Amino acid sequence: MIGQKNIIIDTDPGQDDAIAILLALASPKEINVLGITAVAGNVPLKLTSKNARIICELADRPDLLVFAGCNTPMNRPLITAEHVHGKTGLDGPKLFEPKMPLQNKHGVDFIIDTLKSHKPETITLCCLGPLTNIASAFKKAPEILSRVKEIVLMGGAYFEVGNITPASEFNIFVDPEAAQIVLKSSVKKTILPLDVTHKVLVTKKQNERFRNLGTQVGEMVTEMLEFSERFDRQKYGTDAAPLHDPCVIAYLLKPNLFSGRYINVEVETNSQLTLGMTVADWWGVSGRKPNATFIGDVDVEGFFNLLTDRLSNL
Ligand code: BDR
Ligand code: CA
Repeated sequence: MIGQKNIIIDTDPGQDDAIAILLALASPKEINVLGITAVAGNVPLKLTSKNARIICELADRPDLLVFAGCNTPMNRPLITAEHVHGKTGLDGPKLFEPKMPLQNKHGVDFIIDTLKSHKPETITLCCLGPLTNIASAFKKAPEILSRVKEIVLMGGAYFEVGNITPASEFNIFVDPEAAQIVLKSSVKKTILPLDVTHKVLVTKKQNERFRNLGTQVGEMVTEMLEFSERFDRQKYGTDAAPLHDPCVIAYLLKPNLFSGRYINVEVETNSQLTLGMTVADWWGVSGRKPNATFIGDVDVEGFFNLLTDRLSNL
């Protein structure tokens, strides 16, 4: 059993983001969610900030603080992924209008103020989307860098290369400059890339396990996944599809399910062909200084047992 961690979830829901948020909210003994900051990514900010509130209400946590952050990447126009996540970002189940308010403060200011008002190194940033909010906070208030305990993020790839382009993973591709700021920062970083999330495959049988929870959460999770998975199943020609963002929360809950290497990871920000590629020095050939723990493997059965078990709490 680990001690309780204070976290901020930075996210662009997204069905897999939604399940990550549910996993965090289903684990109150280990995780205290200080707030959720929405960022533009899978769908525009208006929708991601609404979807985050839908998920909080689904988990019966209308008391949570949800903030809208940046609505475009730092230096580029926004690229979205409705082709995967549908028009709303949470296509699949019948959605409801959230009643809980969006907070007035900008998400970036919430990140800055919260880090400043808590003891140093007591807050973990969990990043499930493009890194625009986090990099903007680091740029606006560099004094917060030393106060972050750790960043755990889903993004990038090495052996799996890319999903949105042949070379790049979506979260990094959308805002490569933000990703580079985060990777170059002095903060401790753990990366859950496609190399690991593509091992976490949701089968029909696993989806039935979620449905068999017999709860509204179980049913909505199943319907969300049935929708978002159709794209990957078709694309990869498999009957199971990867589950990305919940790996971040599972890593916080049970780090022993995962293994990786402390290596150098940098982002391509110039090339048209490989924009947003994470160049991960897995074999230690570059001589560049290691800057992140890059996860490569996971106990898949342990992961799904954890997720299914925790979701049954909601
Ligand atoms: C990442 O991109 C988004 O589509 C998912 O929510 C996940 O964060 C996977 O590449
Ligand atoms: Ca996401």
